Formats: sequence, structure tokens, C-alpha cells
Amino acid sequence: MSVVKINVLTVPSDMREELERRFAGRAGMVETQDGFEWFELLRPVDGTDRYLVYTRWRSEEDFQRWHESMAFRRGHEQAQADREDDGDAHRAPAATDSEVWSFEVAQHAGPRRS
Ligand code: HEM
Repeated sequence: MSVVKINVLTVPSDMREELERRFAGRAGMVETQDGFEWFELLRPVDGTDRYLVYTRWRSEEDFQRWHESMAFRRGHEQAQADREDDGDAHRAPAATDSEVWSFEVAQHAGPRRS
């Protein structure tokens, strides 16, 4: 049964462009991880300030393996540089908060083609 892990990032409006720029330049390592199924960066359009980083995995173990891996660290080099902020404005954190939501896929459907 697949699991969905969503990282919820709170992003002030003046940092949205920067966050999306960082994701556009992401490492692309996650695609090579065993058990990886899907990634989407979801931009809020309803007036809230929370981006969703949607990921889906074959199993909880596959997600945990990636989360503890070098690939995860490599995939977060820009976010990591933020946390070691040296006062340089363009390296300020794009997100002010984050939390992870976890789900199991209970049911799913795709388009029916005739
Ligand atoms: C403090 C927590 C986190 C923050 C601030 C954060 C922020 C970011 C940022 C800014 C990037 C763009 C690339 C880069 O930084 O080099 C990124 C990449 C990514 N993040 Fe996070 N992230 C966090 C934790 C997580 C977690 C827990 C997940 C999984 C649910 C996740 C999923 C991803 C994925 C899939 C990528 C793309 C990696 C790749 O291309 O290999 N992030 N994140």
C-alpha cells in the first residue's frame, strides 16, 4: 500500500518566487530512489501561504530510507544553506515553518478511457 508524505511549507508572499526558484533548481535525486512514486510542488491559489510538497512512496520504509539518505541531504542543499544563514539576504530561508503530514492511500482512481 502506497504512503503519501506531504511537507507543508509556510512561505511569505515575498519569498514565493525564491522558493519556486529553489525547487526549479532542485537536485532531482528523489526520482532515483527505490520506492519513489510521485512528487509535486503545489502552489496555493486560495489566499493561504502554505505550499505542499506532495510525495508518494511504495511503503513507509522506502520513504524513511530516502529521508535518512545522502540523497535527501543533497536534495536539500539550498534549504540547508538557509539554515546556515550568513546574513546574505538572498540566502534567507524561503519557508518560515514546515510540518509533515502522513497518509496511506486508502482508495484511488484515474480517468476511465473508452
Ligand atoms: C525543514 C524542512 C524542510 C524544508 C525547509 C524544505 C525545503 C525544501 C527546498 C527549499 C527544496 C528545494 C531544493 C533545495 O533546497 O536544494 C526542497 C526539496 C525537496 N523537498 Fe524539502 N524541505 C524540508 C523537508 C522535506 C520533507 C520532510 C520532505 C518529504 C515529505 C521534503 C520533500 C522534498 C523533495 C521531494 C524535494 C526535491 C528533492 C530532489 O529533487 O531530489 N522536504 N525542500
